[in-house]
Amino acid sequence: MTFESAQALLALHGQSHLLRFWEELDAESRAGLLSDISAIDFDTVAKLHRTLVTHPAPEASATARIEPLPGQNPAPHVSAEYRRLGLAALAEGKCAAFLVAGGQGTRLGHDGPKGVFDIGLPSHKSLFQLQAERLLRIGTLCGKPVPWYIMTSRENHAATTGFFSQHAFFGLPENQIAFFPQAEFPLTDDTGKILLSDKGRIALGPNGNGGCFPALKASGALDDMRRRGVEWLFFYSVDNALVRVCDPEFLGFALKSGLPAASKAVPKVSPEERVGVFCRRDGKPSVIEYSEMPPEMCAARANDSAEGVLLYGAANIAVHLFRRDFLEQHADAALPWHVAHKKIPHVDAEGALVSPASPNAWKFELFMFDLFPMAPDMAVLEVERAAEFAPVKNRSGEGVSDSPATARALILDLHRLWAQQAGLPESRLAEKEVEVSPLTSYAGEGLAPDAFHEDATRTILSA
Ligand code: UD1
Repeated sequence: MTFESAQALLALHGQSHLLRFWEELDAESRAGLLSDISAIDFDTVAKLHRTLVTHPAPEASATARIEPLPGQNPAPHVSAEYRRLGLAALAEGKCAAFLVAGGQGTRLGHDGPKGVFDIGLPSHKSLFQLQAERLLRIGTLCGKPVPWYIMTSRENHAATTGFFSQHAFFGLPENQIAFFPQAEFPLTDDTGKILLSDKGRIALGPNGNGGCFPALKASGALDDMRRRGVEWLFFYSVDNALVRVCDPEFLGFALKSGLPAASKAVPKVSPEERVGVFCRRDGKPSVIEYSEMPPEMCAARANDSAEGVLLYGAANIAVHLFRRDFLEQHADAALPWHVAHKKIPHVDAEGALVSPASPNAWKFELFMFDLFPMAPDMAVLEVERAAEFAPVKNRSGEGVSDSPATARALILDLHRLWAQQAGLPESRLAEKEVEVSPLTSYAGEGLAPDAFHEDATRTILSA
């Protein structure tokens, strides 16, 4: 693209300000800016700004027929059967893990990939390390290494891959891990003008975790899965410190369902909890995101009674399984866009860098759960919250939920329970923090009292 063609294109779309600082740019910045401009779909930017910001349609929850979609709660012997089935499929190499880690983690206030974050466990393992070690353990339990695909974004790709190689891939075979970045989308101001992050750079952000479907295809990950004989992909997000990566029980549940999509749910704790919930929207399986749920829907209870359980109470913990053939079929599906108002640093008309104190920019995003309505139906497994959901979203603080501190406490409580179930007497547990390495136990299995040892300070018990 030449400067003149960029000028003409921008004039047509009312975005001429993007070349405002052209005269001040060096040759490299000019080339970068032209390349960014040529990649933008200006019609889509304008359409999304019009339909989601200036003239938003009513929320789908107001126009569609919405019904609850509760999770299934299998009896213990059925769970055991699912686990056997799932382990057998893993042993045949039929399932791979897929981490969506392209997000920016702004709520946590942490600079860099969220997965490198240390939530303060006695071992100081990062979120990435906890996930890698659970995957290693599953490989040991099923007798075959499990492939791992990791989606990053332009912003955090180098830092993510660098962290893995610095830690020797946490002991996983390097050829079992593939990293690829997702696509980006421009950020606009209130009037629909695209922001500049620098005099020669368009302000772009990752296009939401639903950008994973085209990215899985474009990166060659889907082809790689087919070559390896992988039939199922286990999707999860980076910030659940208790995530059971490639959980065999969940895989068995999905296999048994005969459906191409499955998800895990936990009971929502309060109407205000910031989680999406499972529902049927005009009969189709869906998730409604917390940011798009009206307060009456959040608060609705069964039988219209204050004592009833939350009607929309099956919370999405962002743990999904999709069959590979279904992903291949729908990788290019046009998913609905969502919008969020964010604080985005940018360069103003005078060329000064501004760090706004309140939201100033519109970020357009795709959501991965929006693929569910394309399935004939989906299976939702209700799992135990205390054993599987420790979100790390916000900075730790007095009374703050979903923080590193609350996630740390949840892990240590669970591991104490495992130690008790393994037969450790209270005298050995008193006044100690208990941490079990995922390399020793994935979900509490295989622990005996002699697996636990005290550290020199006698305050930590590890296995
Ligand atoms: C997400 C779910 C929400 C669920 C909650 C549970 C979505 C859209 N929402 O909310 O329904 O109840 O988790 O904790 O899934 N990511 C990318 N690229 C992006 C944006 C995000 O890869 O462009 C990744 C993040 O790195 C993270 C995951 O997606 O691993 C979820 O992050 P986020 O978009 O912040 O969703 P939540 O608000 O946490």
